[in-house]
Amino acid sequence: MSFLSNLFKKEDKSVLGVDIGSSSLKVVQLRKEGGKAVLETYGELALGPYGGSEVGQATNLSAEQITETLKDLLREAKVTTTNCGVSIPFARSLLTLVRLPYRKDPKEQRTVIELEARKYIPVPVSEVQLDWFVVPEAEPAQFSEEESSRDAASKGETIEVLLVAVHNDELSLLQSIVAGAGLTASFYEIEIFSTIRAVVEDPVKPVMVMDVGAASTKTYVVEHGVVALSHAISAGSQDITRAISVSGNLSIARAEALKKEEGIRGAGALGNPELVFSRIFSEARRVLMQYETTHKKSVTSIVFTGGGGVTKELGTYAKEVFSIDVRVADPFAKTEAPAFMRQVLEEIGPEFAVAVGLALRKLREI
Ligand SMILES: Nc1ncnc2c1ncn2[C@@H]1O[C@H](COP(=O)(O)OP(=O)(O)OP(=O)(O)O)[C@@H](O)[C@H]1O
Ligand SMILES: [Mg+2]
Repeated sequence: MSFLSNLFKKEDKSVLGVDIGSSSLKVVQLRKEGGKAVLETYGELALGPYGGSEVGQATNLSAEQITETLKDLLREAKVTTTNCGVSIPFARSLLTLVRLPYRKDPKEQRTVIELEARKYIPVPVSEVQLDWFVVPEAEPAQFSEEESSRDAASKGETIEVLLVAVHNDELSLLQSIVAGAGLTASFYEIEIFSTIRAVVEDPVKPVMVMDVGAASTKTYVVEHGVVALSHAISAGSQDITRAISVSGNLSIARAEALKKEEGIRGAGALGNPELVFSRIFSEARRVLMQYETTHKKSVTSIVFTGGGGVTKELGTYAKEVFSIDVRVADPFAKTEAPAFMRQVLEEIGPEFAVAVGLALRKLREI
């Protein structure tokens, strides 16, 4: 290799999003090319088999076991970069929307927020990483009453702030996994923020995101790109597998395969997947109504993400239950990929929403 080619050696323009879920790890590698995000590779590896359980079931593995799985995944997916962003599970974070006194001076504002945050965080502030976002006030209001109260609020010298806290222990755990797998992370981000970047199109209107994972379903109402309300429902796609397994006297592995083949109605007599979803949906509806009552605004649509979001005919069923616009997320639509891959990417997309969102943020660093 000549000196010149060394001198102009192409810098690494690839980045990686790493989503550490409870049932599986996902990675998405993107490259920046002419201002576009080109999909280079992606992959998923179930954690269950590494911890004595099955594919599709939530696990509670040690950092070492997760590191080993991640190394295998990086190899299998032929990942070529070490530069990444990593997700923080919603369950390990605290998100609270609060109204606080407004201060013109940014430094004073910071002090007010930090002092007030102590009231909302159940552990000493020194044990957490604290972050916040000021919610923008201007918006096309759907309820004029709300508009005037918001105006009054800003004139009345208060602001709405989203407080975000993550325990230091959780960050150390993630850092050890990342280092163990030979990666370098420039940021750790709570999964919902990655998801919003990847799937919420119009951040101005209130949208409900439903991330259907293995053991839990996370629901968020997103407004102005900010999480106005968040809630975890303790039921997820693994409950469907278990129900099919019990009612059909089948192994978990067989039930898992059947669930994927047949979708929400197909397994019919077996386990009745609709029943699990109707339980999840009725709790989600309460979250939605709580938002609508307190914020006096309607949620205009629902977006599904997570592996459970891949369930066949889920969208159709959800449309019947909630009579608003329902969409199954297509995060890969934000990336450039060969046309022949489009259909597959669209199908599996919901599962990769977090990893795509992380990679998109990481791309901005280039
Ligand atoms: N095609 C499919 N049809 C139905 N369910 C599916 C399909 N693909 C995956 N799942 C289910 O999705 C679940 C995993 O979803 P996901 O990968 O989003 O979870 P996770 O990120 O590991 O969990 P969490 O985010 O709650 O920690 C599993 O229970 C799996 O069985
Ligand atoms: Mg997940």
